[in-house]
Amino acid sequence: MWGILAALLLGAAILVLHHRDIPVEVETHRRNLIGSGMTTADRIAPVAKFVMAGSDKGSAAPAQASAIVQVKDRDGQQVYQASCVACHGTGIAGAPKVGDKGQWATRMLAGTEVLYRNALVGIQSPAGVMPAKGGNPSLSDKDVKAAVDFMVAKLN
Ligand code: HEC
Repeated sequence: MWGILAALLLGAAILVLHHRDIPVEVETHRRNLIGSGMTTADRIAPVAKFVMAGSDKGSAAPAQASAIVQVKDRDGQQVYQASCVACHGTGIAGAPKVGDKGQWATRMLAGTEVLYRNALVGIQSPAGVMPAKGGNPSLSDKDVKAAVDFMVAKLN
């Protein structure tokens, strides 16, 4: 009987002590986060950012792309830099990284026409979503194909 009571008391004491420590732990984690020099805004900032031409270029987001609206006759590299690098530069969100032969090997087997088509109309898999024309509908088909050519050339 006394043994059970003692065990219950000990359990209750441990529970109380544990919960009294929680605010201290929270405060420690908070201080560590603030101590790293990051603000809340930094921590919840998006990893990539689209910037429309002519608007403010924004802050130093790691992967940044400008979606330039209705610019004609750009070469593949320009289109890539404007509309594709945000995902394909670093390979975020399941996008095959430019220059990474391993990530492109299977896709290359399907042939350039398939790559063109998927880049134009978009493609989706469990790995991620490739929006039609990289999410920039103002691009001409020629622009998108040129960007694909540019990306494929980077594999050589
Ligand atoms: C929002 C991110 C994002 C942007 C922007 C983007 N892509 Fe993609 N892209 C992806 C993802 C994710 C995949 C992989 C999709 C899959 O395999 O289902 C992909 C796959 C591809 C592929 C391979 C298709 C295939 O057949 O396997 C090509 C080619 C491609 N993108 C071209 C482009 C071009 C050109 C642009 C710019 C005009 C562009 N992408 C912009 C995310 C993006």
